Amino acid sequence: MSHHVEALDLPGATLDAARMPGHWLLARMGKRVLRPGGLELTQKMLEGLAIASSDHVVELAPGLGTTTRLVLGFDPASYIGVDRDEAAVRSVQRALRPGRDQVRQGAAAKTGLESGSASVVLGEAMLTMHTAEQKAAIIREAHRVLSAGGRYGIHELALTPDDLPESDKSEINRALSDSIHVGARPLTVQEWRQVLSEGGFEVTYSATAPMALLESSRVIADEGLLGAMRITANVLRNPAARQRILEMRAVFRRYASKMCAVTLVARRRELPSA
Ligand SMILES: C[S@@+](CC[C@H](N)C(=O)[O-])C[C@H]1O[C@@H](n2cnc3c(N)ncnc32)[C@H](O)[C@@H]1O
Repeated sequence: MSHHVEALDLPGATLDAARMPGHWLLARMGKRVLRPGGLELTQKMLEGLAIASSDHVVELAPGLGTTTRLVLGFDPASYIGVDRDEAAVRSVQRALRPGRDQVRQGAAAKTGLESGSASVVLGEAMLTMHTAEQKAAIIREAHRVLSAGGRYGIHELALTPDDLPESDKSEINRALSDSIHVGARPLTVQEWRQVLSEGGFEVTYSATAPMALLESSRVIADEGLLGAMRITANVLRNPAARQRILEMRAVFRRYASKMCAVTLVARRRELPSA
């Protein structure tokens, strides 16, 4: 994946490496794939979504637009991205087909899009960082924006196994949040299924992958050999970033056996009217 993004126009460009959210720190080092299951799990989600040229696609929190480019490869009728970060919006803009697609700065729970206007909604690595109420609100918004029978794809961090003790869950949430400087509240695969089901969706496809975001084999798979070398060089030049990334990787490794990445694809059901 060789799209160039100006380093100064990246999200978090003005923040201090010791404090900024982990995903923007990785972006500043040159990382473009910022989701737990990597491109491989993204590809599975896209297979499950089966985007066709008749589809109207909405992507929540597209970040740097890596999945946007893959989605546009299916030549959908339209694409709209919604991200709350201004620099992310600019970087998605560069991937779009003029006159057909758009990206707006906004909140995933309140997109301002017309009800029933999309046939596909997707969002990766964005629900995990929200509270239970916010997760439900974003899922409700996906449901509202989708037309009857529409598909919703997610790709998030999960805890495993499904009966992991509550004490382990809170320990992992705390360790993750402290290292990535973003509130992280992953769910078990069963719980992810349940929040989709409660939000009016029927899960039709699921797949998991190890949480290996910062392992070199995954970095090479996601960013290519050259990309991985560029990231390594950037990290070696920046001691503050290096220290934080090593801390993040240490936490990911410590809990590797209790975490995974999950993608779920679900079909919109009618919700009983209140
Ligand atoms: C970890 S990054 C993931 C980016 C991209 N989806 C990927 O997988 O590479 C999280 C992204 O979610 C966006 N985001 C988080 N919460 C959001 C919300 N409530 N509404 C819109 N965007 C949000 C952030 O600005 C950022 O671009």
